[in-house]
Amino acid sequence: MSAQPENIRRNTVPQIAKRKGGDPIVSLTSYHAHTAAIVDKYADFILVGDSLGMVMHGMDSTVGVPLDLMIMHGKAVVRGTKKALIVVDMPFGSYEESPNMAFRNAAKIMKETGCGAVKLEGGARMAETIKFLVERGIPVMAHIGLTPQSSHVMGGFKTQGRDEDTWAAHIKDAHAVTDAGAFSVVLEGMVEPLASKITKEIAIPTIGIGASADCDGQILVLEDMLGMNPWTPKFVKVYGQLGPMIEDSVKRYAAEVKDRSFPSEDEVYR
Ligand code: KIV
Repeated sequence: MSAQPENIRRNTVPQIAKRKGGDPIVSLTSYHAHTAAIVDKYADFILVGDSLGMVMHGMDSTVGVPLDLMIMHGKAVVRGTKKALIVVDMPFGSYEESPNMAFRNAAKIMKETGCGAVKLEGGARMAETIKFLVERGIPVMAHIGLTPQSSHVMGGFKTQGRDEDTWAAHIKDAHAVTDAGAFSVVLEGMVEPLASKITKEIAIPTIGIGASADCDGQILVLEDMLGMNPWTPKFVKVYGQLGPMIEDSVKRYAAEVKDRSFPSEDEVYR
């Protein structure tokens, strides 16, 4: 008997972990069933990132994102997809206090969304929690370098590792999450040679975002690469300009309503 419904064949955590040093891992964020269905055709895993607080809900950081919102968007993305491994972010305040608290909330996310793994921010300081979760059946993707949930401590969204004296701490974080059992680690906003060095040193796949082309895979926030956000980080390559397309469509619709050229029922439903 298969653990998955017949039409659903998702990538598994061990399959992603085995891609270390191999075929590059493709991933994007998604928060919405129908866009996730498109992404699912090309992505090895999809992250329901807590960036949704900023991208979907207009928050100025990810700090205010509640657990229930992650679960709601996680369910939508699981419903919309069949192939990609779905990873859901643990939001700020849902895991840092203790391994027990992290387990309770990670289990809630996995049970209620049907996702295959969770992601949490932090390196050496979260190693004990990562080990605790993995030993109890919860696959964990770690996230080091620029960790947006700590932006208040870091003084904003700043590229990490510009000063070579700080590299040792990031390298220590990468080894700590690997030794704790994380199956993969996101390297965000990290100078290229440091991300490249970490990728060569550790045994689990690194997923870069504003890091290095040498990483074992890459991730981008979907709306950033589609040109839909008013503010897009400098490192993002924009592959489509959906923001201006949406505006143009809304403008044409508004003009048709105003000048009464908007089609009547018999023209639309022929
Ligand atoms: O929340 C998110 O979208 C993320 C990615 C930027 C990796 O954590």
